[in-house]
Amino acid sequence: MHAALFSFFVAVFFSVFARAAPVTTQPVELLVFSPTITSPTAGIVWITNTKANVTWLTSNIPAEKQNTTGLLLLGYEANNSENLDIYHPLASQFPLAQGWVEFTVPSNLTYKNNYIVVLFGDSGNASPQFTITPNNATQS
Ligand SMILES: *[C@@H]1O[C@H](CO)[C@@H](O)[C@H](O)[C@H]1NC(C)=O
Ligand SMILES: *[C@@H]1O[C@H](CO)[C@@H](O)[C@H](O)[C@H]1NC(C)=O
Ligand SMILES: *[C@@H]1O[C@H](CO)[C@@H](O)[C@H](O)[C@H]1NC(C)=O
Ligand SMILES: *[C@@H]1O[C@H](CO)[C@@H](O)[C@H](O)[C@H]1NC(C)=O
Repeated sequence: MHAALFSFFVAVFFSVFARAAPVTTQPVELLVFSPTITSPTAGIVWITNTKANVTWLTSNIPAEKQNTTGLLLLGYEANNSENLDIYHPLASQFPLAQGWVEFTVPSNLTYKNNYIVVLFGDSGNASPQFTITPNNATQS
């Protein structure tokens, strides 16, 4: 599970719990779904300005989450951070039950071999590190 988001849920849970303690407790969402990414696998290479797929397991999607849409963010692991680019999602609003999403790798990404993607359902799951390399044929 994505650590920052997990902390967020824990914080929300305890703040709701603390505030609601004297009165009737509201139901709290504890069923957090975190899709397991099956691709990209460690070390694969994506080329800018070409199509790529991210795939994930759908077998563990709970029935209540079948209609959830996903958000796919690109980041890179450095300085003990995922450095997620929250302003430029690779894909959003796609059905999680589909198990894959196709998109074009943004043309202006620089070479790194420590890229990751994080797929958010309610919570996020990070892929292993992989490489994106500029597509020299289509660079202007
Ligand atoms: C992504 O996956 C879909 C479904 O399997 C497939 O139709 C499509 O060709 C794939 N795209 C790429 C770039 O691999
Ligand atoms: C999911 O969406 C379908 C179609 O909109 C609807 O029939 C179904 O009840 C929804 N399921 C859940 C668990 O919300
Ligand atoms: C990591 O931290 C160092 C020192 O704070 C900084 O100079 C460097 O730019 C950071 N690297 C990345 C990839 O953020
Ligand atoms: C890539 O281009 C987008 C706009 O198309 C811009 O917002 C973004 O900052 C650029 N990213 C980099 C790493 O230059």
